[in-house]
Amino acid sequence: MLLSWVIAGMISLPVTAAYLWLGHWIMWKIPILHGPVFIPSNDASTDLMLKMAQLQEGERLADLGSGNGKIVIAAAQKGALSDGFENSPTLVYQSRKKIKNAGLTHQARIYLKSFWSADLSQYDVITLYTSVATMPKLEQKLLRELKPGARVVSNTFAFPHWPCEKQRGNIFLYLRK
Ligand SMILES: C[S@@+](CC[C@H](N)C(=O)[O-])C[C@H]1O[C@@H](n2cnc3c(N)ncnc32)[C@H](O)[C@@H]1O
Repeated sequence: MLLSWVIAGMISLPVTAAYLWLGHWIMWKIPILHGPVFIPSNDASTDLMLKMAQLQEGERLADLGSGNGKIVIAAAQKGALSDGFENSPTLVYQSRKKIKNAGLTHQARIYLKSFWSADLSQYDVITLYTSVATMPKLEQKLLRELKPGARVVSNTFAFPHWPCEKQRGNIFLYLRK
């Protein structure tokens, strides 16, 4: 009896390990399951981004690639109506949970959706922390869709052609004129 348990253990443990490894490998090979690497804006950058955008109570903010919802939550706590677009299901789950725990469900929403397919025309403020490769195409989308007066704040990455209004450290502010 003991021997059969030992043999079963010897077979099932490697099978389980292989199964977990394969699941993890698939997650990281298919971008829609995890999105590009997730690095949250730190507290200082989050504060600075919202300050530079001069976010007002009641304004609409969208964070493009909202990660764990940090910026969406910080904006909602300042009285904005904030939306996040995020293509990683696990990060969407985490951020929705954080929003619920913070009692902000009436002010903050996270969409499991690529920001490329989001209509950005209704927003007053856009925040982003994406990648060098994304910025040229994102510049075109924002200039096409944003209303005059809308502000864009980017962590770390600058647009290639759109001149920034202000730069503080690694935060860039843009104004849709
Ligand atoms: C560097 S993190 C920034 C997270 C958050 N904005 C912050 O500043 O804390 C970039 C996020 O964008 C997400 N992302 C990348 N491309 C995306 C796309 N096309 N649509 C939605 N989310 C995307 C990634 O999954 C990741 O969570």
